[in-house]
Amino acid sequence: MDLLLIGPPGVGKGTQAARLRQALNIPHLSTGDLLRRHVAERTRLGVAAAAHMRRGELVPDELVTAMALDQIHGPSCAGGVVLDGFPRTLTQAEALDTALAGQGRRLAAVLHLTAPDQVLLRRLTGRRTCGGCGAIYHPVTRPPRAPGLCDSCGHGLVQRADDTAETARTRLAVHTRQTQPLLTRYRLTGVLHEIDGCGGVDDVTGNLLAILAPHAVGSSAA
Ligand code: AP5
Repeated sequence: MDLLLIGPPGVGKGTQAARLRQALNIPHLSTGDLLRRHVAERTRLGVAAAAHMRRGELVPDELVTAMALDQIHGPSCAGGVVLDGFPRTLTQAEALDTALAGQGRRLAAVLHLTAPDQVLLRRLTGRRTCGGCGAIYHPVTRPPRAPGLCDSCGHGLVQRADDTAETARTRLAVHTRQTQPLLTRYRLTGVLHEIDGCGGVDDVTGNLLAILAPHAVGSSAA
């Protein structure tokens, strides 16, 4: 089963994708995480992407699409994938549809999480991420047991470079301008589901799994 989590920065895509991965036994593909790894390792792609990401703008389509499709074509995603952060433009969406169709696949569901900008800005500026395993925390809604340390692997927690208030505002504007047009495309094909991202993390997961239950029948879902 191929799924897409879509929505503005900070709405909970990464948080929920990790939970869907566990509940449905489908790998999670985050283009943001992949790009940050390239930036940290100073690969050619990372060097090309870094300035765009620092400004809160999208990385050019051709760079992101090649990186994402390479993963989607890999053996770990052969049975389906939870996409988080890709596609974000119509050009990327067309490339994804073509790639999936070439393998006899299609998006089973597009899960659109929503929340008001004030909520998103609070979440983004408060977010801390594990430098080891990538687990996501927030001092109010998801505090670690020991301050500054990951519950799962014990690594230190860090703030993402693009989680300043100024860059977060740019990212929200970029989402409205470049990613929201995708919703019309997915609404027309009947795969779009709207989910309120303001509830508690468990409530949002429950709503997502309820939507996915009919699709999970006959798939590898637990
Ligand atoms: P990316 O890493 O994908 O960032 P994003 O889309 O801006 O989304 P975030 O990761 O910020 O938020 P999220 O929705 O995953 O929220 P989270 O679960 O962490 O992309 C980064 C950059 O990479 C882009 O700006 C761009 O430059 C580039 N890029 C990536 N993909 C690209 C593409 N396809 N094309 C071009 N460029 C691309 O939660 C946020 C916080 O809220 C956490 O602290 C969490 O604990 C908390 N929280 C989550 N859910 C809840 C809840 N229900 N209640 C309370 N708190 C909650």
